[in-house]
Amino acid sequence: MHPAASVAPSCRIGAGSVVLAQTVLTASVRVGAHVAVMPHVTLTHDAEIGDYATIASGVRLGGGVTVGTGAYLGAGALVREGVTVGAGALVGMGAVVLRDVPPGEVWAGSPARRLRPAPHREEN
Ligand SMILES: CC(C)(COP(=O)(O)OP(=O)(O)OC[C@H]1O[C@@H](n2cnc3c(N)ncnc32)[C@H](O)[C@@H]1OP(=O)(O)O)[C@@H](O)C(=O)NCCC(=O)NCCS
Repeated sequence: MHPAASVAPSCRIGAGSVVLAQTVLTASVRVGAHVAVMPHVTLTHDAEIGDYATIASGVRLGGGVTVGTGAYLGAGALVREGVTVGAGALVGMGAVVLRDVPPGEVWAGSPARRLRPAPHREEN
């Protein structure tokens, strides 16, 4: 946990996860294990981040967003409140995500749309 991160006492962060500078976790945010949260990220109330997810710099999640295991949110992505990003999904930089992203798909753009399937884990 970087000393310049702001994490409310009601938040929980799993083993092996890193939360970098200027990131804000507002209230009741749950971050799983081995998650990378890059600088200047805002995780709003009741967000849930699955194990092994990566949240790139400048991402902002609305309240109650769920991010599945191993998902990747590209730099500066915005996710509407209550939306679910599925396990293993990849959200492009700058995306504006208004709808649920199914597991294992690549979505990008504003509003975000499906680009293609995500590569299998073995190909990464
Ligand atoms: C979404 C992403 C994974 C797509 O990568 P890709 O599959 O190699 O896609 P390509 O570069 O071949 O682009 C495919 C199409 O999607 C478009 N596109 C790619 N990334 C986009 C994005 N972030 N937003 C909008 N459109 C995007 C391209 O313009 C292209 O459109 P076209 O076919 O009309 O020319 C990638 O661009 C991305 O955003 N990665 C995240 C990068 C990041 O945040 N890094 C943080 C480092 S800490």
